[in-house]
Amino acid sequence: MERTLIILKPDAVQRGICGQIIGRFEKKGLQIVGAKLMKISQTLAETHYAPHKGKPFYDGLVKFMTSSPVVVLALAGKDSIAISRKMMGATFGSKAEPGTIRGDFGVSNSFNLIHGSDSIESAQRELGLFFKADELLEWKPVIQSWVYDFAKGQPE
Ligand code: RTP
Ligand code: MG
Repeated sequence: MERTLIILKPDAVQRGICGQIIGRFEKKGLQIVGAKLMKISQTLAETHYAPHKGKPFYDGLVKFMTSSPVVVLALAGKDSIAISRKMMGATFGSKAEPGTIRGDFGVSNSFNLIHGSDSIESAQRELGLFFKADELLEWKPVIQSWVYDFAKGQPE
């Protein structure tokens, strides 16, 4: 199953809406394989957002991400990267469609509640930054055979 890194950003933790956001992923059928509350260090924030270094919003973004604790999740599922990005909605809260996490829970552009990896390569890089190998668990949810159709051997 594909894995992705999700960060519930400082605004989500401070506003007390982590449970509702995590609940959406659980209801969708994505599986939690890693989870922790942490304060992101300056170095980790800079490394994580290195692809944006030099952009006008980079310094503010790093400051925001290190300002208060975050909840970090590793989610697993077929196409979990694309599915979770779709559930998050457009980057800016003011633009995100209703029904998405950013669209339903926020209005701000920079305080946009959630990060999700945007490709398989990013997911691998970011999961490695935030989780040690033994913090990512291999486990089989008992409901899995009802979340996916395994009639042909592969999840569908
Ligand atoms: P993320 O990486 O956090 O999941 O968000 P994203 O893919 O939707 O957006 P991305 O382009 O990767 O931007 C990373 C984060 O930087 C902030 N941002 N601010 N003021 C601006 O123009 C601007 N553009 C981006 C947002 O917090 C965004 O989530
Ligand atoms: Mg991004």
